[in-house]
Amino acid sequence: MAGATQHAHWSSRWAFIMAAVGSAVGLGNIWKFPYEAGQGGGGAFVMVYLLFVFFIGTPMLVAELSLGRRGQLSPVGTMKKIAQEEKKSHWWGLIGWSGVVGAFIVISFYSVVGGWTLAYMVKAAMGSFSGIDAATAESTFVGYISDPVMTLVSHFAFMAITIFIVAKGVQGGLEKAVTVLMPALFAILIILVIYSGFTGDFAKTIDFLFNPDFNELLYKPNTPEAIAAGAPAQRFSFDMVLQALGQSFFSLSLALGSIMTYGSYLTKDVKIGRSAVTIAAADSSVALMAGLAIFPIVFAYGLDVAGGGGLVFMSLPIAFGQMPLGIVFGTLFFGLLAVAAITSSISLLEPPVSYVEEKTGWNRRKVAITMGVAAGVLGILSAYSQGTNMLADVRIFGLNIMDAKDFLTNNIMMPLAGLFTALFVGWFVTRKSMMEELAMEDKTFRIWYFLARFVSPTAIGIIFIKLIYDTIVG
Ligand code: PFF
Repeated sequence: MAGATQHAHWSSRWAFIMAAVGSAVGLGNIWKFPYEAGQGGGGAFVMVYLLFVFFIGTPMLVAELSLGRRGQLSPVGTMKKIAQEEKKSHWWGLIGWSGVVGAFIVISFYSVVGGWTLAYMVKAAMGSFSGIDAATAESTFVGYISDPVMTLVSHFAFMAITIFIVAKGVQGGLEKAVTVLMPALFAILIILVIYSGFTGDFAKTIDFLFNPDFNELLYKPNTPEAIAAGAPAQRFSFDMVLQALGQSFFSLSLALGSIMTYGSYLTKDVKIGRSAVTIAAADSSVALMAGLAIFPIVFAYGLDVAGGGGLVFMSLPIAFGQMPLGIVFGTLFFGLLAVAAITSSISLLEPPVSYVEEKTGWNRRKVAITMGVAAGVLGILSAYSQGTNMLADVRIFGLNIMDAKDFLTNNIMMPLAGLFTALFVGWFVTRKSMMEELAMEDKTFRIWYFLARFVSPTAIGIIFIKLIYDTIVG
């Protein structure tokens, strides 16, 4: 049987931590977190996000890592094997399936945005941002994402780098890449924070990110029509709380099989609880540092904090075009984003690759190329759904193709997989098996078990129901 080939392992705990932090730290931290914090009112969003990371995300990291390590197979093989050992239905294998398929869909569009970061790194290095104003920054971005050739080249360049690393295997590819790229990423980020601190408005940033105003989080403005009809200016809503929960999952790479696959490469001597806390702490520190690098510039140049997804690609270039040494720091910034995206995209290609490898027995190189190219081809649809590109007018349930894939994975597949993973470890695997696998101190285990058994499923269940409600009603 193909699966009988020896499953690969990390060569050290350090290599594993770097790989897992590499997976977690990505576009989610540097591109999405700052703009979500910006839209969510700053400090209040940040605090709620951190609570979710530690009380829900970290226990789920522990759950996925321990399942992966126990199964020693792809997510599908792992879930089926553990369910069988625990005498539970083979349908639990669906969690693994959802991870493999979900990761394949996510990498197909993650690579498109990864391509944008590569293209913007080149643009920054060529001095394309010198002296541009807001209108030019916008037309540059829209022009680029609407260009069928350039978007394809950058998307496939990004995918080729991902395939190259994954093809070389766990120790020869993943480990080598992350142990060089992650320290480089931290170094660039620290340089950028210091630089922003000196050239930008640091005091305002600290106040914005760390001085919470919970009113901003729990209330949102009413529509002009509602106000005209006599409603108060603001109404209670906890959208931002839910957004923070979703973001904590995405940022920690949960529910797509990536962490479970990385867990399957773990040896028994690694302490999973301690590792999960380290990964979560590193991931949230990078998100906060990204905020500290970006907001001083946003405030100093009068850019819009709530500028959404365009914050990084349309607003920051204006600042890089004006500031001293803007070419150097602009190139470093987009280089940082590209590195973060690459170490995450390799973890997204892993679940499908480990599954196909296990099923077919093909060598890793062949599987990595096949799956990477297939995801790349699926990604063309996402690349061409942007700006005024060829498929920009195609709508699936009212969304363009990229947003539809994002919605399907982020709002449906991931919450469901997360919910069932929590239920599986909390209620279906015996307490004794979990205790043996985790080998934690009694008290730590009890805390973890409580969080995984009660708190996580309740919180995830609430977001899921709310998302479905919003989709149907709103
Ligand atoms: N955690 C990555 C980020 O924040 O960009 C994205 C990601 C990677 C999500 C791998 C899920 C995953 F399985």
